[in-house]
Amino acid sequence: MQIPCGKLNLLITVDQPGRFKCPPLSDLEQEMEETPDTTEKRIAFIAQGNLDPERASQLLNKIFNAKDYLIVLRAYPAPQQYIDGLYKIFCNLPHGAPISQRCFRALRKAGGETGLLPTGYDFSFPLEKQDTLPRASGGFSDVWKAKGPTGAIFALKILHVTQRDNIRDIKKRFCKEVLIAKLVDNENVLAIEGVQMTDEPKFCIVSEWMEHGDMHTYLKGNESADRVELLLGVVRGLNYLHSIEVVHGDLKSSNVLIDSGGNPRLTDFGLSSVTRNDISANASTPNGGGTIRWRAPELFELSTKAKDEGKAKLARPTKKSDTYSLAMVVIEIFTGRHPFHPHRDEQVIVLLSKGSRPGRPDHQQFTPQMWSLTRKCWKKDPKKRPDIPKVLENLEPGAERANRKNLWTLWNPFSS
Ligand SMILES: Nc1ncnc2c1ncn2[C@@H]1O[C@H](COP(=O)(O)OP(=O)(O)OP(=O)(O)O)[C@@H](O)[C@H]1O
Ligand SMILES: [Mg+2]
Repeated sequence: MQIPCGKLNLLITVDQPGRFKCPPLSDLEQEMEETPDTTEKRIAFIAQGNLDPERASQLLNKIFNAKDYLIVLRAYPAPQQYIDGLYKIFCNLPHGAPISQRCFRALRKAGGETGLLPTGYDFSFPLEKQDTLPRASGGFSDVWKAKGPTGAIFALKILHVTQRDNIRDIKKRFCKEVLIAKLVDNENVLAIEGVQMTDEPKFCIVSEWMEHGDMHTYLKGNESADRVELLLGVVRGLNYLHSIEVVHGDLKSSNVLIDSGGNPRLTDFGLSSVTRNDISANASTPNGGGTIRWRAPELFELSTKAKDEGKAKLARPTKKSDTYSLAMVVIEIFTGRHPFHPHRDEQVIVLLSKGSRPGRPDHQQFTPQMWSLTRKCWKKDPKKRPDIPKVLENLEPGAERANRKNLWTLWNPFSS
């Protein structure tokens, strides 16, 4: 019988439901002796896909435990084959199994060290841009609307890179961060379709085109939109990301897209770690791409490591800084305006330095409970802010427990 393996729709062949056929370990030891004698050949051997998942896991564990594993990873002569092999193995491993998490970590590490992605991430179909100018431009990218060969419409997000940027570093970080974006599987999160990096140096992310655009624009044209439902969708999406240990890092209404069914879908998660430190911000958005009003106060500080090294790197976003950004998104949802409207970024910095926060939205759907929750979420001390499951529990009584149960049956690549 065959069982589906996550959103990738790969099939694992099993003997009986819930049981994989697996030989005793002694046979396996012997097989390891007989199989090719180097780590890379062993990976290629497993990736041929003839082994059942449990057996592949055992062999893989042996490889990851081998002393030469990291050395091989760094000096591997055919890194693309290595990454493709690992990716193939990863896709065939049972979701949630510790070995699958280990394999994903190895993949991320390989992407970060080599600046490569699995071949399956290449979006190779020709895409025809629909306009002469981009549809929109953010602090670090242009977004184009484009048509594929079958008529499907896609968004092309092309990162701005200039000669001032360290392309090698961007590539490595890009490959490390974008890996997860194709694997996410939640109705409130937008997975990417693939990337185009052929025209080097070009960093282009391809995703489904969301006809309703971002949430900020959507709310402007839809006075009667159900704002509580939108908020719940955003919190569910963020809850999912946190459950798989992904920090969004740049949550704001322009990074929430609205799909054809009116559901919010989070986008651009993790990418802030590429844009924050590696890409020079657009001159027209001098303050880190115009994200200041959503950014938690602790993120304005230099990271401890950077301080030690005398570098100007900012602190890394955390789940708690996402909680802060969520509070600002709440303000956007219930006022239809950016937080701290009508102040300019420069004025917002002054307001933030005085500990100011936006005023209470005057919307009929906005309850006193929501106001109290919002104020907890933007507390200065990150430790005093609630975790996202707690926020969801408050917004959606009773639903959280069911949700958590679902979440833990999902694949969680990062937990140990
Ligand atoms: N898949 C998509 N479908 C439709 N519109 C999109 C899509 N992706 C992005 N956009 C539009 O492009 C705009 C600009 O996106 P972009 O991510 O470049 O900038 P941003 O979200 O404003 O800022 P940041 O660079 O911090 O993410 C978005 O606000 C949205 O309106
Ligand atoms: Mg964006």
